[in-house]
Amino acid sequence: MSLSDYQLTLQQQVYAPLVVGGMGVDISTADLALAIARLGGIGHISDAMAPWVSDRRYRTHFQSEKEKRFREFRDRLDKPGVKWEATETYQASLRHTQVTMERKQGSGGVFINVMEKLSMGDARETLRARLRGALDGGIDGITLSAGLHLGSLELIADHPRFKEVNLGIIVSSTRALKIFLRSAKRAGRLPDYCIVEGPLAGGHLGFGLDWGQFDLKAITAEVISFLREEELDIAVIPAGGIFTGTDATDLLKGGAAAVQVATRFTITQECGLPQTVKEIYLRATEDDIVVNLVSPTGYAMRMLRSSPCLASNVRPQCEALGYMLDREGHCAYHDAYQSTPTDSSGEKLPVREKMCICYHFMRFNCYTCGHFVYRLKDTTTRFVDGKYYLPIAEQVFSDYMTSENHEINRASPITQF
Ligand SMILES: Cc1cc2nc3c(=O)[nH]c(=O)nc-3n(C[C@H](O)[C@H](O)[C@H](O)COP(=O)(O)O)c2cc1C
Repeated sequence: MSLSDYQLTLQQQVYAPLVVGGMGVDISTADLALAIARLGGIGHISDAMAPWVSDRRYRTHFQSEKEKRFREFRDRLDKPGVKWEATETYQASLRHTQVTMERKQGSGGVFINVMEKLSMGDARETLRARLRGALDGGIDGITLSAGLHLGSLELIADHPRFKEVNLGIIVSSTRALKIFLRSAKRAGRLPDYCIVEGPLAGGHLGFGLDWGQFDLKAITAEVISFLREEELDIAVIPAGGIFTGTDATDLLKGGAAAVQVATRFTITQECGLPQTVKEIYLRATEDDIVVNLVSPTGYAMRMLRSSPCLASNVRPQCEALGYMLDREGHCAYHDAYQSTPTDSSGEKLPVREKMCICYHFMRFNCYTCGHFVYRLKDTTTRFVDGKYYLPIAEQVFSDYMTSENHEINRASPITQF
């Protein structure tokens, strides 16, 4: 049996049971999501820092205009009142979604990953704007992530597409799912799917530094049996460390409806990481990986130790960025920056406790990855000059779909279609 023997059905629409997860910021690009949709699976774009993505891709000026508006805060470490206007956030998400959906071909889906933790100076209003921008832009599905999202569905309950769009949540425990379901019932809409993200995933984790004590298979089995007991028809999609097609089919045999993966696609040509960073992922060893608490979101995160975001002393630039600011104009990086001393010449020493997530994601300086990043080198061909071949998404997708007995068909330029 291979993954191609299974199907995922959401709202009567049939998909290949392979979902490529959201990777902010613009790492899971529109090109990657569209390639997956063309192949019949589900690809995600991400709405993280959508104004930056829009400026970069569509030549808008959201960030420079915001920077002008809040110029007076440049030399201050407190940023009260610095925030994104909901209209700007809406326009950026709308454009990113709309342009992507206009290009969509094939029977698969393009979903959007929406992180609750991106408070943007006004958590509730900017979240409402992001969700509505995605819905108005024609997105096929919304995956709620990085937060419990207890009020998120209510923000779109009156939207004409509320019932029709696919809705899902990322959780790392049955407990988190139960809490979300209570709020979903209040909003009159159960999710169509839930992504159970285990401790080996990339990006932010729903676990602390004790992540090694948890197991994706066990959590998935618990979620499946809870939903069966409650007679709830919600597709369960495990994620995190699913590296071969056989890892995936093992989970489907246990009752999962599909799987979500990401790390194997980070080295594809369609992925938004710079080529140099893809090479770094390909050369990574197991010892290069660390799970730490430097993200100002408060969540643990997995990344390579060589990430330039670690121990950087960049000054907070929330006038233009400020995606993590709370209503009071505060971000955990501010405290870490403030409490870090300067050297004898007045230069700020490296800030070790937290990273400036906005600045470093914008520069692809945080090499976040799943636990099995060090196995990427076994998935593709190495040329005589020592460089690796970067596969196209279709090659990785079809390897997942057809592989058996944990075999991986090394991608090479010859097998390119
Ligand atoms: C580079 C990278 C960036 C990620 N960014 C996000 C993100 O912005 N939001 C999110 O919910 N998950 C994010 N993730 C998690 C993935 O969507 C996915 O669930 C997980 O990494 C799957 O595990 P795997 O990478 O071992 O296949 C990210 C993962 C990677 C590798």
